[in-house]
Amino acid sequence: MIVALADFLHELDELAAAGGAVLGGAADQAALETARVEFLGAKSGRLKTLQKGLGSVAGSDKPAAGKRFNEVKQLLEAALANAQSRLASADAAPSGPPLDPTQPGPRPTLGHLHPLTQTIEELKEIMGRLGFTVADGPEIEDERHNFEALNIPADHPARDPLENFFLATAGATAGSPDAGLPGGRPLLLRSQTSTVQIRVMEQQPPPVRIIALGRVYRPDTADATHYPMFHQIEGLLVDRHVTMADLKSMLRLFAASYLGREVHIRFRPSFFPFTEPSVEVDMSWGDRWIEMGGAGMVDPNVLRAVGYDPEQVTGFAFGLGVERVCARRHGVADIREFYKNDVRFLHQF
Ligand code: DAH
Repeated sequence: MIVALADFLHELDELAAAGGAVLGGAADQAALETARVEFLGAKSGRLKTLQKGLGSVAGSDKPAAGKRFNEVKQLLEAALANAQSRLASADAAPSGPPLDPTQPGPRPTLGHLHPLTQTIEELKEIMGRLGFTVADGPEIEDERHNFEALNIPADHPARDPLENFFLATAGATAGSPDAGLPGGRPLLLRSQTSTVQIRVMEQQPPPVRIIALGRVYRPDTADATHYPMFHQIEGLLVDRHVTMADLKSMLRLFAASYLGREVHIRFRPSFFPFTEPSVEVDMSWGDRWIEMGGAGMVDPNVLRAVGYDPEQVTGFAFGLGVERVCARRHGVADIREFYKNDVRFLHQF
């Protein structure tokens, strides 16, 4: 039996139309699979059945019939692939209740400043209200600013190379004329922010009313109250008729502002080369006294070293540990916590 080419092509067209519609309209995976078997099934799908009919087309018509057959086959395969990807992306879409754009979104977790940075900002703010402006100095210092102008003589134990982080060039030892960088001047990581007192006074005539906050370095073994790097707040006030009573009132105001209640200040006689007289400053903590740092009246030798006249002006200075005041306020028992970067600790501030 010979099938006319026109009839064969007509059946192909009908199959293409029906297959495209059913495959394209499949609502879920099961419906698509049924449609696939019906149209593209390898054993008895409708396309397969038609392929068998190809043998009945007259020999001269076979190329035209075969060409159209292949086109329809490709068309149905494409319709199947489209339907598969359409249903796959529908599966990936969230089920459950529809999106409600009026609901608040999930809150992103926000970080915050490190507790020491927060403390530094707050101390600047408090001292700013008392009329002190912020001054800055380098962390790599020379011996003049770290020691000499601060009246610390060459044989003072604080200048021992083992007590400081000297930056020596190869072959040069700390304290020797060719140590440090550049030009052979010995340089070191500053061991105290008192260096900034000198830098400020060198730059301007009195009166001076500054604070300096920053990192200082000492080769100390880390423990609950020591670390090779820590922070200090330094204060300096130089003017006519400045007295120790001014120093104590100012420190009391400062402590009360930061700790937020009536705090007692205690001065214990002490010695620093750059102040005379010198005191250790304690603050009351419950029934205990906590040492916060040192203070005193600026030594006349320091004023002379920067070209000030000690007969005309006097001044007070103080230096407190930032870690200590911060730890004291928040009840932190070990300052090493500040440097561990443990978010469970930092999160609390
Ligand atoms: N620079 C001292 C230290 O690091 C602290 C200090 C004491 C600073 C007395 C001062 C001061 O300004 O007057 O131990």
